[in-house]
Amino acid sequence: MAKEKEKSVKELEDLPGIGPTSAEKLKAAGFTDIGKVAIASPHELSEASGVSVDAAKKAIEAAKQATTVVYDTAESIYEKRKVLGRIKTGSKELDAMLGGGVETNAITEVYGRFASGKTQLGFQLTVNSQLPMDKGGLDGSVLFLDTEGTFRPERIEQISEAAGMDPKKVLENIFVVRCSNTDEQILTIERADKLIQEKNIKLIVVDSMISLFRSEFLGRGALGERQQKLNSHIHKLQQLADRYSLAVYITNQVMDNPGILFGDPTTPVGGNIMAHAATTRIYMRKSKEDKRIARLVDSPNMPEGESVIKITTEGIKD
Ligand code: GTP
Ligand code: MG
Repeated sequence: MAKEKEKSVKELEDLPGIGPTSAEKLKAAGFTDIGKVAIASPHELSEASGVSVDAAKKAIEAAKQATTVVYDTAESIYEKRKVLGRIKTGSKELDAMLGGGVETNAITEVYGRFASGKTQLGFQLTVNSQLPMDKGGLDGSVLFLDTEGTFRPERIEQISEAAGMDPKKVLENIFVVRCSNTDEQILTIERADKLIQEKNIKLIVVDSMISLFRSEFLGRGALGERQQKLNSHIHKLQQLADRYSLAVYITNQVMDNPGILFGDPTTPVGGNIMAHAATTRIYMRKSKEDKRIARLVDSPNMPEGESVIKITTEGIKD
């Protein structure tokens, strides 16, 4: 595969043994470009084009040679990552634990019990993401999917006033979609491209990611379908994060895992699909009064750790 291409093969007709007639047949069968030929089996290709299996083998080999491996050098990825934006959380300790705040081009998940602060952190990020880059924001607006009916503009107002921002402007830049079923939730993300571009969305919040899926797909029989839909929904979110260099913040519920005999039995729901969805996973739990403990459980580049934050009227603080 790493071999340089010998002669320039660009179209189906450039492949050895493939004339205009076989090329037409291939196109009709769905082999519309050499990339598709490169991954075909000789029998499949022979059947579709009418050429012999041996000729098909040669054509596939040539197609493989002509298809280049798309790569980035680690150095260029490193350079790109240095300029990735991050949203400050309001707590220096939590920011440090996350390597500077909530990352763009990635999904960040917070799971925890009720009143642990998942939604409050979502509000804080919704406000902070609108700050200029040098103040810890992304200078953009927010798409907020509210699946539990817990979005509170009053809280946004309080938090933005405390941050010295104009609450009216902050509220104007939040596009809230109240989703009451998974179809609405999925479709909102499927159709988000235009809104993201027009409104310069830099943060997508999904609060909560899975509650509607859990209530709609009940029982063992529905689990497969649920996980499949959830998987493609997550995939689409990740695509948007990459394509538009935006941050995705999702919240998740928990259950008690009876298999854990010692220590904290709290486990996030959503199974394997959710476990691999987020780039960064945070477990949030209640401590004394307004204190919350945020634990980094999964991160591609930061060590596990804990930080203590406070939920105040002004928002998230150290
Ligand atoms: P569920 O969605 O029920 O699973 O919980 P959650 O993790 O989203 O909890 P949420 O973020 O809504 O946190 C609720 C807690 O935040 C409340 O119990 C309060 O302690 C705190 N809180 C919410 N609003 C305010 C406020 O205006 N001032 C202060 N000081 N605390 C607040
Ligand atoms: Mg909540």
